[in-house]
Amino acid sequence: MSSMWRLAARLAVVAASTGICGCAEDKTDGEEVMIIGMSQCNLGEPWRVQMNSEIKQAAAKHAELKIVFKDAQNDTLKQRAHLEEFVSAGVELIIVSPKEAAPLTEPVAKAVQAGIPVIVLDRRVLGEEYTCFIGADNRLIGKAAGEWIRNKAGGKGKVVELKGLMTSTPGQDRHTGFREGLGEGEMEVVFEADMKWLEPNARKEMESALARFQAIDVVYAHNDPGAHGAWLAAKAAGREQEMLFVGIDALPHEGVVYVRQGILDASFQYPTGGQEAIDVALKILAGQKVPKEITLGSRIFTKDNVDTGGQPIG
Ligand code: FRU
Repeated sequence: MSSMWRLAARLAVVAASTGICGCAEDKTDGEEVMIIGMSQCNLGEPWRVQMNSEIKQAAAKHAELKIVFKDAQNDTLKQRAHLEEFVSAGVELIIVSPKEAAPLTEPVAKAVQAGIPVIVLDRRVLGEEYTCFIGADNRLIGKAAGEWIRNKAGGKGKVVELKGLMTSTPGQDRHTGFREGLGEGEMEVVFEADMKWLEPNARKEMESALARFQAIDVVYAHNDPGAHGAWLAAKAAGREQEMLFVGIDALPHEGVVYVRQGILDASFQYPTGGQEAIDVALKILAGQKVPKEITLGSRIFTKDNVDTGGQPIG
């Protein structure tokens, strides 16, 4: 079978099994096209739209790559199915940004066992059966947030913690790191809730916190949509000036804008790793060895440094 025919056949399988039109024209002047399956846990949040667009942009510079994007719509079972479909379609490589650690561990391991390299992005799976993990150090970011809040509050204050999905590793690590950074003493977490990364949930949880506590000094949310949801609740109660709001992500068109507007007091950057995923994918596909773990940096943005691009942490 000619390489043209092989490509057409594989794209047809990807199209049939993934429901996505594999209608990439063979632009490669005889060079072989390599199909990467990308499973995104949801596209309801701006940060994930940004990740996909970084992947797309980075891949666009390499004519030999064709990315098949799939959106699990925050449904773990759907995301497990993506992995299985990519394996049976025989893609060359898989990138996955998993919703939750435990349920995605097995399908990732099975793909690796089937000989397909898997790059895990941002949220981890359990164990070691993947090819490369790329993401920022969430524990370090949580710790930096705890320390910053402690200093800003003068070592004393009542804190609300709005947590990300606690079955995902960033939620767990942003929590553990935060408590480390906050330290012992007179910083007291009076209210904590799992808002599962979602702004409407954060707003609801914050309404409960406001109803229960006359004094709240700080809201720490595990992402900027969560911090913004909390701010909306406090604003509706006329109490947004009473407290600090701190979030994580610092997207240029989201968290950074909130900091500039004075809605958030601080946001910690959480890079998507989209560009790095394509860099690593190209190395793997070229048969090169890649590190098991790639840790991305982070920066803090506050009103004092937002105009100069924030400050690196750690
Ligand atoms: C988007 C998101 C980001 C957060 C990341 C953690 O789904 O909630 O806001 O930083 O996931 O995995």
